Amino acid sequence: MSAKEAIHITDVAPRDGLQNQAVDVGTEGKLRLIELLVEAGLRSIEVTSFVSPKAVPQMADAAELAAQVQARFAALRTSVLVPNLKGLERAHAAGAKEIAVVLSATETMNRKNINMGLDQATEVSEQTLAAARALGLRTRAYVAVAFDCPFEGETPLDEVLRLSARMHAAAADEIVIADTIGSASPGQVKARMAALRGVVPIERLAVHLHDTRGMGVANAWAALEAGVRRFDASVGGIGGCPFAPGAAGNVATEDLVLMAERSGFSTGISLAGLLAAVDFAQGALRKPLGGRAITWLRRQRDKDTQDNTRRLA
Ligand code: HMG
Ligand code: MG
Repeated sequence: MSAKEAIHITDVAPRDGLQNQAVDVGTEGKLRLIELLVEAGLRSIEVTSFVSPKAVPQMADAAELAAQVQARFAALRTSVLVPNLKGLERAHAAGAKEIAVVLSATETMNRKNINMGLDQATEVSEQTLAAARALGLRTRAYVAVAFDCPFEGETPLDEVLRLSARMHAAAADEIVIADTIGSASPGQVKARMAALRGVVPIERLAVHLHDTRGMGVANAWAALEAGVRRFDASVGGIGGCPFAPGAAGNVATEDLVLMAERSGFSTGISLAGLLAAVDFAQGALRKPLGGRAITWLRRQRDKDTQDNTRRLA
């Protein structure tokens, strides 16, 4: 029997998931969520963002959190989002080893998100990537609103290709194609990934899908079929950009793992472990969480527990 092909998942729940929540789970709550994700088998987590605390108060503890995560989980690929050189400086001071810049593919989305026009945002992303490389950090570059923009409608493919090529030329280790408002369809993902392969080597491409219209897993499958092996996801499906109206949470990590494992790929991630993280996040945020498969997954877990109890009795 041939070995299963691996896919790589970065859980972005502590950053994308918690940046837009009404309830503050505190630094301890974030650390516990990260610990549960590590226990579930996640090897890469985006833990926080070094942005203005006035813009996103939920991430105000970035320095303390990042430092504690690096100290406690030395083997973890710990990523942090930085919008500019000041963010990089703060992240580096906190000991970050991997950063992600965020460039949106439209003028208006950049202005709403990081208060810069498209040209300035592109240049600032390039400068930040270059400075991060000079510091020896690993780098990711988000290309946000890569399908549709909540302000400008469908994003021209040429623009997504041009900006992805710029981020690749700026030596980003990973170019993360983001469906910010979760509006893409599998057909669009297939077409855009086929075109993107022409400007960025496939092993450097990742997708970051939101699940607003229930197509997150189908879109992940389309990306898999197109050759992508790097995915962002958020445990429990929490997430959404505060500056992109209509954006629901990311595709749930548990849905993505279930789909990938059932399709013959290996993720190294335990579904039971993810359910423990969903339960914790649900308690901390005081609302029901979980992806599309959560009811079935919980029923399965209850059945397994009963079977084990019966066997032991
Ligand atoms: P600005 O007001 O234009 O910045 O904000 P500025 O350069 O004029 O500086 C204003 C103040 O902010 C100054 O402080 C700076 O020092 C400070 P003051 O003198 O007033 O005391 N400042 C900072 N402080 C902390 N960290 C920094 C930083 N930079 C400047 N890095 C800025 C520009 C980018 C800072 C602001 O607009 C901001 O923080 N935006 C937040 C953006 C954000 O977090 N968005 C959500 C994440 S992106 C996302 O969710 C999409 C993604 O998931 C992919 C997808 O789904 O598409 C990644
Ligand atoms: Mg996002």
